[in-house]
Amino acid sequence: MNRDLGINLTRVTEAAALASGKFLGQGDKDRADEAAVNEMRTMFNLLNIDGKVVIGEGEIDNAPMLYIGEQIGNPSNLDQVDIAVDPIDGTTSLSDGMPNAISVLAVAPKGNILDAPDVYMKKIACGPKAKGLIDINKSVRENIENVARALKKDVSDITVSVLKRERHDHLVEEIRKTGARISMVNDGDILTAIDTAMPNGQLDLMMGIGGAPEGIIAACALKCLDGDFQAVFTPSDEQQLKRCDDLGIDLDKVYKLDDLIKGNQVLFSATGITSGSFLSGVEYLKENMARTESILLRLPSGTIRYINSIHKLDQKLSK
Ligand code: FBP
Repeated sequence: MNRDLGINLTRVTEAAALASGKFLGQGDKDRADEAAVNEMRTMFNLLNIDGKVVIGEGEIDNAPMLYIGEQIGNPSNLDQVDIAVDPIDGTTSLSDGMPNAISVLAVAPKGNILDAPDVYMKKIACGPKAKGLIDINKSVRENIENVARALKKDVSDITVSVLKRERHDHLVEEIRKTGARISMVNDGDILTAIDTAMPNGQLDLMMGIGGAPEGIIAACALKCLDGDFQAVFTPSDEQQLKRCDDLGIDLDKVYKLDDLIKGNQVLFSATGITSGSFLSGVEYLKENMARTESILLRLPSGTIRYINSIHKLDQKLSK
């Protein structure tokens, strides 16, 4: 993949963040999402890629844009890529005016990102030092103790991130029994999974059940950061079971990083919409300007690039 594509991908997440940031606290998830999707799609159109959306807004019947299977760009272009997008991860956070909402995407050579259904997934994520030492089939205690040993920390200094959901009551109980710290978030488990592998992150582990599309996108970032991630698909009803079946998902299999994202070429971009632990949200400045903060990750180089931009809102290209 052409590495210059990276900065253009950040333009895409920046545009979606700027468009949806306006809806902070407005209590209108749909309008925020629509704004992000429209802007993301418009910006994708400007790119020199021959891409296919493999993780997107849903099936073609339910999503007019960025639907799974949608072709993006120009088929005559050389870079044939898979695209995974989440125009807003943390839609509820954004509409409630809460932290942790991002606009995010990942791109890899064609066929390298797993075609995953929109179902639930059990996940575990950690950073580079604990790579190879997590095992989703082992107990919560074993995983926490192994990570603590790898990080040369006391278990009581380990911070585990969990989505605040009733389904996690037992998990939370198990973590508490070990004495580890728990950082609970209302939404946005892409950001928390990535945080475990960021040099300036505050989390050591992310555990629990969340969306599979979010899991695949997080795996793309963790691969760039040399972190680790494991997942098991956990469909919650008949419809989700069918979606897994249609895509040939093995429900008994532990999907490892290389099953979710193959090869060693990945581009990943995320822009903060509302502030999270390592990404600021969109800030509105004087004279109709706004500032965004993004991270752009690239494999094989492993570079973590922070991109701070000041946008003149009345001069935006897609206007
Ligand atoms: P959306 O922005 O698409 O609503 O996703 C937010 C999120 O918190 C994800 O980060 C997470 O994987 C998923 O929802 C968990 O699903 P649920 O809210 O149904 O528990």
